[in-house]
Amino acid sequence: MPEFKDVLSSSSTIFVNKQALSPHFVPDQLPFREGELRRMMEAVAPVLKGQKAKNLFLYGKTGTGKSSSAKYVLEKLEAEKNPHVSALYMNCRVFDSRYRVLQKIITTFHPKFARTGYSFAVLYEKLLDWMEEDGKQVVVVLDEIDMVKDLDNLVYTMTRANDDLRKGNLSILGVSNKVDFKQRLDARSRSSLCEEELVFQPYNAEQLSGILKVRVPMAFAPNVVHDSAIHLASAIAASENGDARYALLLLLRAGELVENEKRTTVVDKDVENSRKAAEEEKAFEIIGTLPEQQQLLLYALATLATDVTYKRLVEDGGEKLYFSGEVYERYATVTKKLGKPPRTMRWYREYLKELEALGLVNMVQSGKGVRGHTTLIKLGYEAARVRTIIETKVLGE
Ligand SMILES: Nc1ncnc2c1ncn2[C@@H]1O[C@H](COP(=O)(O)OP(=O)(O)O)[C@@H](O)[C@H]1O
Ligand SMILES: [Mg+2]
Repeated sequence: MPEFKDVLSSSSTIFVNKQALSPHFVPDQLPFREGELRRMMEAVAPVLKGQKAKNLFLYGKTGTGKSSSAKYVLEKLEAEKNPHVSALYMNCRVFDSRYRVLQKIITTFHPKFARTGYSFAVLYEKLLDWMEEDGKQVVVVLDEIDMVKDLDNLVYTMTRANDDLRKGNLSILGVSNKVDFKQRLDARSRSSLCEEELVFQPYNAEQLSGILKVRVPMAFAPNVVHDSAIHLASAIAASENGDARYALLLLLRAGELVENEKRTTVVDKDVENSRKAAEEEKAFEIIGTLPEQQQLLLYALATLATDVTYKRLVEDGGEKLYFSGEVYERYATVTKKLGKPPRTMRWYREYLKELEALGLVNMVQSGKGVRGHTTLIKLGYEAARVRTIIETKVLGE
């Protein structure tokens, strides 16, 4: 019979610590972010002298190291062990309202209030009482702050708290992946939230290589990952918004592929395949969120493309292209079968444009031939997979 020690010891020959490639892993070094870290620490440093920190707002695209940097700064702040300083990180995907944020702050520092049901006013009073006891400096990191539904209220409350407090201060380090998010705040909250701001630029290929080269020996067994595979993953991620998370994901998936195939080294081809898998995954997620009519249209195209008896298609270098009119007919059949009237040709063309913009289909204009000017349509991803995705996710079959 198996024992846990056997399961644990039947270890991988590829990975030594897969966790080091996870997006939740917080590295203890953040190369290429020294300048940003210093500026963040300068904004927060006053709390160590009993003064209010500057509210700081960080933004930049996903995978540019914002969350890691914020956690790094909090860790350093905690390491100072100043009894009057309390710091807290939260992700606003989870704490997505003024009430929840306030509740999280008070229950972290004051576990007596951990149960729910207190009114906002009570929580607010408790927070101020607790801070005033010894003039606490509280620093709150609100990651993905754009997820807070009533953010203007939250910022207003935080600002008011500082006016109401006789001793101590509350400051915010806000973080957002949405580069244009600040514009959506009202002017007053914007100016109090963004006393200082800091933009995280995308990493270039060389920086990503540097990051990966530190992470690879932590995650993989020696000599498993070829240098050229690291460079390829970096180049791909650099061309996709300079996202370090994506670069790490590419290597993780490449490693898993190699492991499944019982091979021993990660080479360029594996990174290529892992990119394909990642793109497909993304596309399939998008399919799940499309408006119903667009899903049905895509489904119609996928059923045509998986129908072996269907011959009215154009083959071009192994790629199968379908006549737009034929796809519309199939779409109309599919919708009718489901008891939903099909939309008109005009709408149909709009849907196609949107699907093309998402990379789910490609359109080719064909000038020649008996039919004169026609549009040919090609599915962006493997038809059988698209069909299964829609059948299971959307039609619930
Ligand atoms: N400068 C860096 N050095 C090492 N790893 C990094 C660096 N920047 C980002 N990462 C890694 O990339 C991933 C994404 O970083 P994260 O801080 O979550 O980005 P963001 O919050 O901007 O989306 C994490 O796994 C993190 O460890
Ligand atoms: Mg983040």
